[in-house]
Amino acid sequence: MDTVIKEARLTGRDGLVDIGIEDGVIVAIEPRLSGREEIPARGNLVSPSFYEIHIHLDAILTEGDPRPNESGSLWEGIAIWAERVKRLTPEDIRGRVMKALPWFVAHGVTHIRSHVDVCDPKLTALRALLAIKREVADLIDIQLVAFPQLAVYSFEGGEDLMREAISLGVDVVGGIPHYEITREYGVEQIRYVMRLAHEAGLPVDVHCDETDDDHSRFLETLAAETIRLGMGGRVAASHTTAMHSYNNAYADKIIGNLRRAGLHVICNPPDNAVLQGRFDHYPIRRGLTRVRELLAAGVNVAAGHDSVMDPWYPMGCGDPLHTAFVLLHLGHMSGRADRRHLFPMLTARPAAIWHNRRVTGEEGLAGHGVAVGNPADLIVWPVPTEDDALRTLPPRRFVLKRGRVVAETRPGTTTVRGAPVHFLREAAS
Ligand code: FE2
Repeated sequence: MDTVIKEARLTGRDGLVDIGIEDGVIVAIEPRLSGREEIPARGNLVSPSFYEIHIHLDAILTEGDPRPNESGSLWEGIAIWAERVKRLTPEDIRGRVMKALPWFVAHGVTHIRSHVDVCDPKLTALRALLAIKREVADLIDIQLVAFPQLAVYSFEGGEDLMREAISLGVDVVGGIPHYEITREYGVEQIRYVMRLAHEAGLPVDVHCDETDDDHSRFLETLAAETIRLGMGGRVAASHTTAMHSYNNAYADKIIGNLRRAGLHVICNPPDNAVLQGRFDHYPIRRGLTRVRELLAAGVNVAAGHDSVMDPWYPMGCGDPLHTAFVLLHLGHMSGRADRRHLFPMLTARPAAIWHNRRVTGEEGLAGHGVAVGNPADLIVWPVPTEDDALRTLPPRRFVLKRGRVVAETRPGTTTVRGAPVHFLREAAS
């Protein structure tokens, strides 16, 4: 065999196994394999790699430029971005993106879906990112979403720019219906986006109802269009934070229709934790979509970071575990039954969105995971369990993309009074 990961611990399986890899694919999972290259897991967790399913690479690492977001609000962030976007050049984008991409790879990300602002007559960011995508393909797979940040019908030339972005070669058609001036424009935008995607044979990922306004109800139109056009499995709604504020009867209706449509939901806990609830006086809403209820209903829900050091979110280092950590807290997902969803929301669930697979409950999640026949996109951890990873957010020991090591972290040692500290209840191996 080309490569064998020795003494791996897999979630949901007792004992240790070796993982055999040939031509970038997992070909065997059993004890005592041998290969030309051997990677020691030493009894620690081996998990599937991460899909960072929602990020904005064009804005990444712009925090503080041209000025910091003093209030931390969405609106000050949009105002700062409107100033910053005028200075975008291919070199500027390239410099920031090439700096940030290794951060994601180091944390186990093998696939990254980036929305790109296409409200720019020159489409500077999109052209630059299309070139970068080709250049880094052996390191990380990138999908680009045509994202009309300033809307389609409320922005001059918005419709044509979306068409041009598609002709340049985006992978996904995006949208932002709640940002239109009127509700009618928003509904029209959803229909336009879905029509464009259907004609072009592309999937859809819409920023949908990212507001605390409980009257923001574009998700129902997105679900209806998905059903009408038979696009189940090919449509995702990002954020959907208004669902937090819907009355329970309406939320129940919409969740049922999302399931019926086969529509995916992508929540974005780090950004929405700080951007939502800004109009509230106590109690302040959390602003996260109804993750537990959606999962319980069998809707596919994945989690994305949204931002790393941009006008909307000043923190982050490209680690999807931060997303899961925030979600565990703000989504009330600390119970054992809920915690088991957190890793799949960074791995198998976003992978199903990436590959346009329809998911109901656990069905449709099999294509990405530590199983024979799947791509060897893997993370070797320095800790034995998913809980230990979420608790300690450790550096990733090895990251493999298609069976090849693309990132490695040498373990450090911390001592207190000369004794090593390892943050595990049981002795570390
Ligand atoms: Fe976003």
